[in-house]
Order: sequence, then C-alpha cells, then structure tokens
Amino acid sequence: MNRRFRPFAPLLALCLAAGAMAARQPGELPAAVTDPELARADYVENCGGCHGVQGRSAPAELPELRDRVGWFLCTPGSRAYLLRLPNVAHSRITDNQQLADLMNFVVFGLGGASAPASAVPFTAEEVARERKLALTAASLRQERAHYVDSAIRACRAPATLRQFYPGENERKRVFSGG
Ligand code: HEC
Repeated sequence: MNRRFRPFAPLLALCLAAGAMAARQPGELPAAVTDPELARADYVENCGGCHGVQGRSAPAELPELRDRVGWFLCTPGSRAYLLRLPNVAHSRITDNQQLADLMNFVVFGLGGASAPASAVPFTAEEVARERKLALTAASLRQERAHYVDSAIRACRAPATLRQFYPGENERKRVFSGG
C-alpha cells in the first residue's frame, strides 16, 4: 500500500467489514454459524413440531416465525425476549453455542428480510446470560406487546407483528395488547 494511505488502513478495513456485513442476503445465515445444517436440524427437531419446519405454523394458531421473527433483533430488550422464551431458555440443548446457532438460524434463516441489516448474531455468552432469566407463561404476552411496540417505533416493524400470526382473530388481538 502507498505510504501516504497507510494511516487510513484500519479505517479502510472497517469500511470493508461493514460492507461485508451489509451484503448479507435475506435468509442467509451469519458466518458465526459454523454448522448451518446442525442448526437447522436442531430447529426441526426441537421447535419444528410446533412452529413448522419452514417457520409457518398455520393451521395451528401459534406464533409465525417465517419473515417476522427477525424484527425482534431490533432492540436489546426484544433480542433478550427471544432467549427468555420458556421453550428456548429451558431447551434441552445445554450447549449455549449450539443454542445460539439454532436461534441464529431462526432469526436470520426463517426471519429472512425481517432481520434488520445491521443486526448482530446471538453469541453463546448472550444465550448463557439471558436463558437464566426465563419468562413465565403469565408475563410473556405483556412483555411481548411491549417489545413489539418498541420494534415498531425503532425499526419500523409492521403493525401486524402485534398479532402472534397473520390474521389472528379480533378477540385474541385484544388479548395480546395489540
Ligand atoms: C410445544 C410447542 C412449542 C415448541 C416445541 C416450541 N414453541 Fe415456540 N412458541 C410456542 C407457543 C405456544 C408460543 C407463544 C408464547 C407462549 O405461549 O409460550 C411460542 C412462542 C415462540 C416465539 C415468539 C414469537 C413471537 O412472535 O412472539 C419464538 C421466537 C419461539 N416460540 C421460538 C421457538 C423455538 C426456537 C423453539 C425451539 C427451541 C420453540 N419455539 C419451541 C410453542 C412452541
């Protein structure tokens, strides 16, 4: 590199790194997931029975993950919500890196374009910290309504995120605070 530009090298490296991050395509997993096949298989085995192999739960009336769940990466609180969900926090997968990979498959893979471009992947440390603070079924809906509101404000998430799944009926929508 030309001597004159040398002081700018770290800046250049930073810009290139930022460019590489921004280049992640919707549905593409971050490089932090070293074994995407295992992450997918773990999802199918542990979560797919309820949420659907493709993240589409219909006709079951369960939260739809496909093209929606990525919005929860928007704020620190809404990220933590995902890791504190009872089925996630109490997962029989005890290895925190393995659970982080599963969750990265969920938010970036199933979440697709709903994952904000600047969102950073879950780490084993984050999983270890948040899963200790598991939510109970009683507090869950209220917490969710709060984080959905913040994601709508901060990241322009669609208002339909207030529903657990698209087309959730009127009675349930009121119940979930939306
Ligand atoms: C027995 C069925 C069942 C299994 C298995 C299950 N879930 Fe869920 N999941 C639910 C239900 C029901 C909810 C709604 C909240 C509640 O009542 O717990 C939910 C909520 C969620 C949400 C919140 C979505 C939103 O829009 O708020 C996410 C994310 C999620 N589950 C991911 C997972 C992952 C990841 C796994 C596997 C580790 C998993 N779930 C396993 C039934 C299940």
